[in-house]
Amino acid sequence: MVTIAQGTSLQEQIAELKRERNAIILAHNYQVGEIQDIADFVGDSLGLAYRAKETDADVIAFCGVHFMAETAKIINPNKTVVLPDKDAGCSLEQACPGDELADFLEEHQEKNYYVIAYINCSAAVKALSDVICTSGNAEKIVRAAPEDRPILFVPDQNLGGWVMEKTGRKMDLWQGACYVHVEFTRDSISHIKDEHPDAVVVAHPECTYAVRLLADEVCSTEKMVDFCRNSPAENIIVVTESGMLHRLRKEVPGKNLIAGPTDRCNCADCRYMKMNTLEKLYLSLRDLKPEITLPEDVRKRAEAPILRMLELSR
Ligand code: 13P
Ligand code: SF4
Repeated sequence: MVTIAQGTSLQEQIAELKRERNAIILAHNYQVGEIQDIADFVGDSLGLAYRAKETDADVIAFCGVHFMAETAKIINPNKTVVLPDKDAGCSLEQACPGDELADFLEEHQEKNYYVIAYINCSAAVKALSDVICTSGNAEKIVRAAPEDRPILFVPDQNLGGWVMEKTGRKMDLWQGACYVHVEFTRDSISHIKDEHPDAVVVAHPECTYAVRLLADEVCSTEKMVDFCRNSPAENIIVVTESGMLHRLRKEVPGKNLIAGPTDRCNCADCRYMKMNTLEKLYLSLRDLKPEITLPEDVRKRAEAPILRMLELSR
């Protein structure tokens, strides 16, 4: 438990520290509501990368998972980047260790792969890639890939499969998956659709093919906001991590936004995203740790494909 000055809320203390440190708070759409509510910017991986690139703050308090904060550090080597809980990881990042990708590329040197890495990966994997993508720009990035080289898409087989469907471009897919999004099943989504026959379904591309088939729209978390705002439907089933519902209910009031259920639960939480709390955010700004650091040679090699992505998706 953090002791805070009498009569001052944790939110006020964070605001004060933010001023003292010249800090910015960036939060992903899956963060708990109370963090979203005090953040300077809430968005998807792509929006957060742009914000991190543009900020003139000295300190970035990144409320998301490790690969997101690491991306902010890669493109801001002279800023202090803190992640409130250093253990906030990602199952996709874990599915593709840098040394395994390096071995794979070595074994298949003759292929001369063009490597497209979903941003949900480590700096070591980014450093081995030609370009990075997010769920918000994956289609564009794949369409811009050279025609004369085979593509290796890492680490998410579901996002990769979805982009292949959209672009018609064949790619070799690394067999990683998001442990949260694969929890949604054809049965769990069919069941909630039966309960709300007039509802439309919006799903994240990390969902399986069977679930994507049931969706009216498949898109990144940021695009879900536009979809819900612009859809004439009153009832919308949102098939992604539960934190998204907080942002949507704030920005699209008056619609019935229903969390997509899994077979076991009526919504899906990412245990990594939920590791960050208001108290840990306060401590990270007070102590400037846990701080993201990485070797300069890796950072430099990882920066080029991120900058290529930011350029290509403007
Ligand atoms: P978005 O970039 O769509 O927000 O997705 C990030 C993520 O981790 C999804 O699980
Ligand atoms: Fe990673 Fe999935 Fe959590 Fe997103 S929801 S951070 S992809 S484990």
